[in-house]
Amino acid sequence: MTEPKPLLAALRCKVIEPPPLWLMRQAGRYLPEYRALREKAGGFLELCLTPEFAAEATLQPIRRFGFDGAILFSDILIVAKALGRALAFRDGDGPSLPPLTNAKELASDVDTAVLGPVYAALRQIRTALPTQTTLLGFAGGPWTVAAYVIDGTGHSQFAKAVAWTKDRGDELEQVIARIADVTAAHLIGQLEAGAEAVQIFDSWAGLLPPDQFHRFVIAPTRRIVSAIRARFPETPIIGFPRNAGALYDAYFAETGVNALCIDQTVSLDHARALQAHGPVQGNLDPATLVAGGPALDAAVATILAALRGRPFVFNLGHGILPETPLAHVERLVQLVRGGA
Ligand code: CP3
Repeated sequence: MTEPKPLLAALRCKVIEPPPLWLMRQAGRYLPEYRALREKAGGFLELCLTPEFAAEATLQPIRRFGFDGAILFSDILIVAKALGRALAFRDGDGPSLPPLTNAKELASDVDTAVLGPVYAALRQIRTALPTQTTLLGFAGGPWTVAAYVIDGTGHSQFAKAVAWTKDRGDELEQVIARIADVTAAHLIGQLEAGAEAVQIFDSWAGLLPPDQFHRFVIAPTRRIVSAIRARFPETPIIGFPRNAGALYDAYFAETGVNALCIDQTVSLDHARALQAHGPVQGNLDPATLVAGGPALDAAVATILAALRGRPFVFNLGHGILPETPLAHVERLVQLVRGGA
């Protein structure tokens, strides 16, 4: 049977023309309808934790742009909240949590009241989605979630978490193993609720040198992948160890993910080499989408020339920036779909 969903087919290693397209952070502040919904909900966490609002936010960019993937509206730090860490989002300031001082401070029970609304949102989205659109679930990579949990914010370049990698490695391993187990269960829960593929966002993987990258990124990710495979053997898993540079190859080969999302610092030669292992997703610079004009046209043409014709999913190299003009997103859709 042929797969009717272009994104799902590409993640299963089919060459799809035109390449499927979605954008990381496609639901967000660049959309006026998102800003209105966030106002109505009263805050970002309220959006995430109310299924009707989360479903609506997920569907907004699909209605406007017809992307091939609809990514669940939620946040990677929901898992930290489910592990008992008090999570807050202050306007314009990103997430904040009380910094973890030792591994024992993580709750031994998972707060199902935090994760339940996520599954409810997915069930609602699934019934409302166009038939050709793939529903994506996601979670943070356990290293990245641990980094926020240990430092408490993203303002400090994760100095404490990085210090733990040097002098409290065993304890960090315990923290990451706990987060990885909950993450695997959360991704399985999302797949049971209707997600058709999942992405693991390890946004701060690039902070780690090779030894620690293997220990704190690759090893726990492999555990998550095995746990998902035991329950959902055929489900595509996209890994995104952002800024991993030369370590993308080891990550792709050793974690067992089906597809690799790459940031904008990866050269197109390297990206092509990575396609030998499976589908690659990325890697337009979000700043180029803000710029638009001839720079956008040229960058999209260059990426398509290098990566289409092999398993490929068009995306950004990181999340869309809030100042991105809607007209530039429309142009991008036209460039990718129109055959450029
Ligand atoms: O991609 C999507 O449209 C789905 C939703 C999604 C969000 N966060 C919504 C969000 C996804 C997949 C994420 C992942 C996420 N969250 C990551 C990994 C990807 C990345 O960006 O590196 C990380 C590190 C987080 C943690 C987080 N959440 C940060 C650092 C911030 C603040 C930065 C910012 O853009 O303000 C958030 C807030 C957040 N998560 C917003 C959205 C739409 C903005 C909240 C708002 O003010 O409305």
